[in-house]
Amino acid sequence: MHRANALGRGNRKCSGCTAKTTERNQNMNIIYNEKNRVFKLDTPHTSYCIGVVDEENFLGHVYYGRKLGSDDLAYLMRTGEPPFVPSENNRDRTSFLDTFPMEYTGHNLGDYREGTLSVRTLSGHTGVSLSYVSHSIYDGKKALEGLPATFGGKDECKTLEIICEDPVLKLQVVLSYSIFADTDAVARSVRIVNQGGEAVYLTKVLSACIDMDNDNYEMITLHGSWARERAIQTYPVRKGKQSVGSVRGESSHQEHPFMAWKSRTATEETGDVYAMNFVYSGNFLAQIEESQFGSIRAMMGIHPEDFCWKLEPGGSFQAPEVICMYSAGGLGGMTRNFHELYRNHLIRGMYKDKKRPILINNWEATYFDFDTDKLLDIARQASALGIEMLVMDDGWFGHRDDDNSSLGDWFVNESKIKGGLKYLVDEVNRLGMKFGIWVEPEMISPDSDLYKEHPDWAIQIPGRVGSLGRNQYVLDLTRKEVRDCIYERIAAVLRSANIEYVKWDMNRQLSDFGSFGLPADRQGELVHRQTLALYEMQERLITDFPNLLLENCSGGGARFDPGMLYYSPQIWCSDDADAVERLSIQAGTALIYPLSTMGAHVSDCPNHTVGRTTPFETRGYVALAGTFGYELDVTKIPEADREMIPDQVAMYHKYNDLVRQGDYYRIARYADNHFYDCYAVVAKDKSEALVTYVQVLGRPNFHSRRIRIPGLDPEKTYVIENAADWPEIRQTEYRGDTLHYAGINIPPISGDFKGRLLHFVLRSHQF
Ligand code: GLA
Repeated sequence: MHRANALGRGNRKCSGCTAKTTERNQNMNIIYNEKNRVFKLDTPHTSYCIGVVDEENFLGHVYYGRKLGSDDLAYLMRTGEPPFVPSENNRDRTSFLDTFPMEYTGHNLGDYREGTLSVRTLSGHTGVSLSYVSHSIYDGKKALEGLPATFGGKDECKTLEIICEDPVLKLQVVLSYSIFADTDAVARSVRIVNQGGEAVYLTKVLSACIDMDNDNYEMITLHGSWARERAIQTYPVRKGKQSVGSVRGESSHQEHPFMAWKSRTATEETGDVYAMNFVYSGNFLAQIEESQFGSIRAMMGIHPEDFCWKLEPGGSFQAPEVICMYSAGGLGGMTRNFHELYRNHLIRGMYKDKKRPILINNWEATYFDFDTDKLLDIARQASALGIEMLVMDDGWFGHRDDDNSSLGDWFVNESKIKGGLKYLVDEVNRLGMKFGIWVEPEMISPDSDLYKEHPDWAIQIPGRVGSLGRNQYVLDLTRKEVRDCIYERIAAVLRSANIEYVKWDMNRQLSDFGSFGLPADRQGELVHRQTLALYEMQERLITDFPNLLLENCSGGGARFDPGMLYYSPQIWCSDDADAVERLSIQAGTALIYPLSTMGAHVSDCPNHTVGRTTPFETRGYVALAGTFGYELDVTKIPEADREMIPDQVAMYHKYNDLVRQGDYYRIARYADNHFYDCYAVVAKDKSEALVTYVQVLGRPNFHSRRIRIPGLDPEKTYVIENAADWPEIRQTEYRGDTLHYAGINIPPISGDFKGRLLHFVLRSHQF
């Protein structure tokens, strides 16, 4: 027997829905058409449509793509075609469920494709099926409790909440969709509420699903390892399942909580591109499954492996947010949409729109071998060259002289920091520089006083020898007493001196999921609770220290994700600061994330990770695409390099506003062509553009290289403002359309790893 009568049309409620366009903002609108039972969410250039079908009120995905004028689209769900809707022909219920484009799926009742929600009742059963009950539409967007998420005011975004229910389980599922007036994104999340009388185990709660026809799509995902994060990989969508994910307790070096699917002919500038990006930093799954009938189901959320959440009667579970994106303007359009969304609606705090201080970090300069004198020598030299902040990296606490000890003992080691931390910071401030510090709060070394006192504070499985990573364990932050102890220790250090920057590191992945603080039936909550605990600690930190510049880091770039960007406006991109390797790492990162978020430094050569020697200028140009800083011992580098620093500092100050705020265009990727890399940042008002060109490998007997520079005003004329830097480019004046469609000729450069900047400005607006 099924529930058509209980859930039929008569029960439908609509609070706050409106069929007329809001006058306040024509760029976005959400309507519900009562007649054809279709929701239509309009962003500036896209429409996203959801339909309600049958007496059982199944919720189906109708359409996502270019903006449409009509919502008369219910036919797209093919409910009139065999296999029939179950209430008309329950005989083929499984056939229906197995083909219907579900907006958010149940499990184990006939839809054999992978689902988004799975449960286990106390009696051990697993079926779940969702039907529409009611909805509301409102201006603005609610925060997600305890989780990072995009935000916007009442004039900036609108939200649709659809309430679905499994009446047998008495499980309510609230699907939330927010759209923005200035960006083509749909921010989705899911909340599960147990309205029944007994607990239920949630064994899988993904956050979003898009069920649509395959149009010969290619999938794009990001892959890597330590020191080579986020390489772009493109491959055809094929029958069956293709997924990326992390079960490492972090978004990870290896795979990334992002996937796109695009038409094969899509370019940087044209063609359909769909994407999902997870606003979350723990375990994730991103998957596309092509079904027997050629439809694809794209889904994203918390990885179900090792996940099991006990939901008590009356309790609710909030799944994190997924950003869905569609661009008809190719991959470049997708990228610029993400940049815009994250700059305006995710990143917070005082540095959100501000130039960041140029820092010098002592990690590659000294590793663990430093003391007050050495740091002050570096600071003295750095401040004379125009560098604005000294960051003291790992090794200032406990008895840590290598990576074998002291994590958890967040007390200054005064045999290294002679005179104490306040003395050091005051001296650095006296030189006109800010001071920053490194911490790794989520970890505990077996060789630490903290571990001696609290061995049960490490995440471990009782009865097993804990698996070490970099000779450390992960602290069980799901326990409040652990969070409080570590936070207070670090906060005391921050309060003890004028510390204006924190680098929050995380140098090992989770394993051995076991908590001494959780009961047996809640061990499956550990990894998600650990991520929530991390968010709670970082929220506390930026609330207590609102002027702090927080930079997240995880063995380089293992936790570069939108979740962390909610707390820190910048993230260390990779431990690999080689200028050539960075071209690929930064291109993969900037596929999604604004340049203002990418921690990028000029480091010493031969490079510490690859042993390559590149010109100091090129290292500067590549770091200019990120936050910009130095990772070297400025007292020891060659004099010729040191002499270039004031010019690099001036270059940063000249261009950083443009780099941080402008529109980013990929022009050529070294990873694709193996010879050169080129990208541009164009001012929003199209008054200027900065083109970075790096010839990775020189070629013999080769003529000039044509590059096209998009994004400028086609009808205006631009000149190369810094033409004197490159006299071989004889023509210095071009119209915007010429730059875009005809391009310019880049003269051959002799040698490898050579970089150049080209600064185009409006002819009337000479610098
Ligand atoms: C990680 C970071 C580095 C450095 C070291 C210190 O690897 O990515 O930048 O801080 O830790 O141990």
